[in-house]
Amino acid sequence: MRIDIITVLPEIFTGALDQSIMKRAQQKGLAEIHLHQLRDYSTMRHRQVDDYAFGGGAGMVLQIEPIWNVIEKLKSERNYDDIIYMSPDGELLNQQIANNLSLKENIVLLCGHYKGVDERVREHLITREISIGNYVLSGGELAAAVVSDAVIRLLPGVLSDETSALSDSFQDNLIAPPVYSRPNDFKGMKVPEILLSGHEKNINEWRFNQSLERTKVRRPELLLPHSPTNNPDSL
Ligand code: ADE
Repeated sequence: MRIDIITVLPEIFTGALDQSIMKRAQQKGLAEIHLHQLRDYSTMRHRQVDDYAFGGGAGMVLQIEPIWNVIEKLKSERNYDDIIYMSPDGELLNQQIANNLSLKENIVLLCGHYKGVDERVREHLITREISIGNYVLSGGELAAAVVSDAVIRLLPGVLSDETSALSDSFQDNLIAPPVYSRPNDFKGMKVPEILLSGHEKNINEWRFNQSLERTKVRRPELLLPHSPTNNPDSL
């Protein structure tokens, strides 16, 4: 899978996407992340990419021209399944959306800044808008890093234990059961006996019940049929 990220702050991604699992996915050739500095596509003096909003009002707007230039260049090089604008107004990211995006070959993530992008970008270039939560970040970069991480870790071969992404919280609308590691007794705090029993069937049953109970208490909305993560239409 290839992810092209358009940003005025490419430095934010070095670190976030160059460590651990994201690094391994790229080294193994399972994912490619390409960063594009939007200013490189400006035709203005001082590589300007933003300007005042017509009609007045506070805040600068990312202009259509450099965004058009970079997206047209990318589209001339390959086909994209989705050109995604990271925006607090977008559809809320959830595990189903991450699963769905992980099946795509090539996607673009456009990071907004300031007051956002010229509306014509959204009308004519963008195929999808994604938000990572109901709060406003100072730019789309951290959101794009979140989407990239959530998607890339799902690609086959990225996680060493193939089943571990499937047993994540949210994959089945249940949050994950508790996990323990050595020592089995730490200052009198003990690991549940059943996990030491070696009975795989009983352990799986216990884990499922723990997941269900935790979901009922912590995230009951995940169990409702109209929960966004339960709704196949949200794909
Ligand atoms: N850009 C600014 N805030 C954002 C959010 N919550 N999600 C995605 N992109 C954003």
